[in-house]
Amino acid sequence: MNEEYGDAYPVEVQWWRPRRVTAADRRPRIAALPGDGIGPEVVAAARRLLDALGEFDVTEHLVGGCSIDEHGTALTDEVLDACAAADAVLLGAVGGPKWESTDPDAPRPEQGLLGLRKGLGLYANLRPVRPSVALAHASPLREDRIRGTDLLVVRELTGGIYFGDRGRADGEAHDTCVYTVEEIDRIARTGFEAARSRAEGGAKGGKVTSVDKANVLETSRLWRETVERLASDYGDVELEHVLVDNAAMQLVSAPARFDVILTENMFGDILSDEAAMLTGSLGMLPSASLGEDRPGLFEPVHGSAPDIVGTGMANPLATFLSVALMLRYGLDRPGDAERVEAAVEAVLERGLRTPDLSWVEPGRPPMSDLPAEVEVGTEEMTDAVIEELQR
Ligand code: IPM
Ligand code: MG
Repeated sequence: MNEEYGDAYPVEVQWWRPRRVTAADRRPRIAALPGDGIGPEVVAAARRLLDALGEFDVTEHLVGGCSIDEHGTALTDEVLDACAAADAVLLGAVGGPKWESTDPDAPRPEQGLLGLRKGLGLYANLRPVRPSVALAHASPLREDRIRGTDLLVVRELTGGIYFGDRGRADGEAHDTCVYTVEEIDRIARTGFEAARSRAEGGAKGGKVTSVDKANVLETSRLWRETVERLASDYGDVELEHVLVDNAAMQLVSAPARFDVILTENMFGDILSDEAAMLTGSLGMLPSASLGEDRPGLFEPVHGSAPDIVGTGMANPLATFLSVALMLRYGLDRPGDAERVEAAVEAVLERGLRTPDLSWVEPGRPPMSDLPAEVEVGTEEMTDAVIEELQR
């Protein structure tokens, strides 16, 4: 028990125990939310992948801009209820230029995603970054910089400036960042548990880098104090505190030094895009959003990519890797998760690339030890991954 705060906050926070282990006599229920932009394209690809893996009950619902068009709101109560009743939620992407507006009263597609996070209590967002060897040269960083990078961003997802009071009046606007000890405590435990389990799993591991801005922000000082206090429960895990600006710098100068990056909502949003780019493309980064007792939400990080909608060139791999996270953390099927991850790695090794991945520095000679790159679209990439699965 802590003297300053009492023992009001939970002592035990589960790591990622799936909410419901599906009974053998029924299929896992997945609420699929294709959303906007390339969302429907990558979710359709994921449904083909799921069909190849086994039997799942998938139902589709509207969220984001398409829901605004249909119902005037980015997330209806019916859709939230349907998601809450599912075993897992798979989301494509939300947003697009059509719904962009600076009018504070206009409905926004992102409210759909934020409403799901809040409504399902999904406070822990996991974004694993492990650049594939086959893509090392597609990274904007030199290969020797990214070698050995295997990190996990553990981002707080239901608090901070995203959900604090905001408003605008008389030529002035404000957004408020608020954190409670309880909120920090539970996400910090998730970070420590993740580091511990990564160390046990044989991955390099056992270190938490807690990222804050404690030299300026009061919420960050509470964050640091709370994380520090927890460290005694996790004596086997190394803990360091790094200021967010410094963390942004080290992510590009020495990414391999990180194991678990534990941080608040806004810092995690920014750092995870930066970390994603280490893999060569935002099109590769999956994400899992987990809570205590409601279904998890699994989504690629890339967003709706309005510039390539309908071209058939969307990279489905981040969605496939999100399906793998769903199988592991949401549906308790770790074996299937590994099969999907191995199949994705195999197609990359074969040289298959969607355009976002086939970035090659102009004038740079091809590397002799790499297979020739073959540019493919969403369909062919999906065919190839399914083919690998069935090998
Ligand atoms: C993300 C996205 C969202 C966020 C947007 C779409 C609201 O950028 O999941 O990182 O800021 O959390
Ligand atoms: Mg983001």
